[in-house]
Amino acid sequence: MTLLKIARMGHPVLLRPADPVALPLSPDIQTLIDDMIETMDDAGGVGLAAPQVHVSKRLFVYFVPPSRSTGPEDPPRPVDALINPVLTPVGDAMVDCTEGCLSIPGLRGVVPRFAQVRYAGLDRSGTPVEGLATGFLANVLQHEYDHLDGILYPTRMTDHRRFGFNEEWLRHGEPS
Ligand code: NI
Repeated sequence: MTLLKIARMGHPVLLRPADPVALPLSPDIQTLIDDMIETMDDAGGVGLAAPQVHVSKRLFVYFVPPSRSTGPEDPPRPVDALINPVLTPVGDAMVDCTEGCLSIPGLRGVVPRFAQVRYAGLDRSGTPVEGLATGFLANVLQHEYDHLDGILYPTRMTDHRRFGFNEEWLRHGEPS
């Protein structure tokens, strides 16, 4: 397994719509998934999209740690990949989500996201999966899906006062 270099905001690969994955079970994609999981774990992230490791393909890895689960409808989930995902908002209710991104180290911001989304795609074994996501899962799926369309979370922010360094928010609290 290999730790991959993470592209940081400003790199053009993060601004480009990614291409569909043609062969999810190919050794190169399976190795990429393994390496992305290792890279995400090493960096302490909860999601990582292929463009963030300089691969402009439509897949990401993600999980819901027990500490981020928001209740029975948003249970902890083990790490998996979602390949060629499709996300569809359910209703128009929005929630404020505090997000960080491994491509924007040291910072976090409050981002309006759909409270519920329907997702579909392939898991890492190439099996079709679909479901309704709420809570933290809905948040991480929307953040990672945006990476596949070349969108970083600051673009989604509506109140830029609520954008700051982790250290300052930990010290002084999150601006509201
Ligand atoms: Ni990100």
